[in-house]
Amino acid sequence: MYDVEKIRSEFPILSRQVNGKPLTYLDNGASAQKPAVVIDAITRVYSEEYANVHRGLHYLSNLATEKYESVRGVIGRFLNAGDEDTIVLNSGTTEGINLVAYSWAMPRFEPGDEIVLSVMEHHANIVPWHFLRERQGAVLKWVETAPDGSLDPQAVIDAIGPKTKLVAVTQCSNVLGTIVDVKAITRGAHAKGVPVLVDGSQGAVHMPVDVQDIGCDFYAITGHKLYGPSGSGAIYIKPERMAEMRPFIGGGDMIKEVTRDTVIYNDPPMKFEAGTPGIVQTIGLGVALEYMMDIGMENIAAHERSLCQYAMERFKGLNWLNIQGHAPDRAAIFSFTMNSAAHAHDISTILDKKGVAVRAGQHCAAPLMDHLGVAATCRASFGLYNTKEEVDTLIDALELAHELFA
Ligand code: ALA
Repeated sequence: MYDVEKIRSEFPILSRQVNGKPLTYLDNGASAQKPAVVIDAITRVYSEEYANVHRGLHYLSNLATEKYESVRGVIGRFLNAGDEDTIVLNSGTTEGINLVAYSWAMPRFEPGDEIVLSVMEHHANIVPWHFLRERQGAVLKWVETAPDGSLDPQAVIDAIGPKTKLVAVTQCSNVLGTIVDVKAITRGAHAKGVPVLVDGSQGAVHMPVDVQDIGCDFYAITGHKLYGPSGSGAIYIKPERMAEMRPFIGGGDMIKEVTRDTVIYNDPPMKFEAGTPGIVQTIGLGVALEYMMDIGMENIAAHERSLCQYAMERFKGLNWLNIQGHAPDRAAIFSFTMNSAAHAHDISTILDKKGVAVRAGQHCAAPLMDHLGVAATCRASFGLYNTKEEVDTLIDALELAHELFA
């Protein structure tokens, strides 16, 4: 049985009050809270086990290296990546996608070559491609979402033309909660000879991921949404693609040999990991992923599905609330506006007074906001520790905001 109360007791911050009210944390899309096992692991490393990795021969350096490197295997298991050398450790999805843009795409793109994107991408999966547009004439080809916020895989596949070099799509919209059939997109894109990058920053939080089953070439995750430390993350890269990539950031650790005149790079994946990494953050991420896998990704997905259904039922009664996006396959992430002139920031401030934390604004997805025809939305994003009672608290607070602005 999914024991949400036990899970909640494992997240120290959830027992605090905000503005004199119990915290109702519904801003998991922006960043999730951390369980005590992660916080304790970070403290333990800094108190007892810390040293730089891959550099020293002393006891602590070996211990830190062992713990840090073991996370590659944990992420490999979390994503069912097979070989752990397909995992490049980094600071999060933004770095992962920039790595692909710089190391894989830039050397391959000629002026006029295209990247197919959905309109609901996060800026992290847009701006690196704008760099390619600005610097070497790449063309960004946008696929619209359907009126219900879903993304038809066939529309993405149909957008692929002879000049398309890459498809880059999210697995789950951080704004609408829409879940995208990235497996179907990958199958169709590969049939046309085009690689696929999946932004798994939101998707990996809410459902089991099997990158081998999806078949994608790149799959990026970010630790801070996965109940791990900020500044941690990874990208899965298919060995064939990794072999095609030039180095990204230059420095220590990504080299085998440096002379005055030459440099020999390290083997992948370390070829793409320069400098002292986020040692403790990465170790914390490993603990967070073990924590999620112990609960079970299927169990987390089922719990969040029931929260989602409950929230949708309750929202139905509120005819002044406009939920953006009603895709049948979705995560418990709800962006909304109100019929009144209330700005998203004002709504969020009122909710905050009731201890309810949501995000207000554009959610790093400005093209989607344009597509929806809204300046900003409020967003309530649920996670593995949220409850139906918290849906009720959200709705009570929304009703208050509605009364104030009516
Ligand atoms: N990507 C994060 C969000 O959706 C920051 O809020």
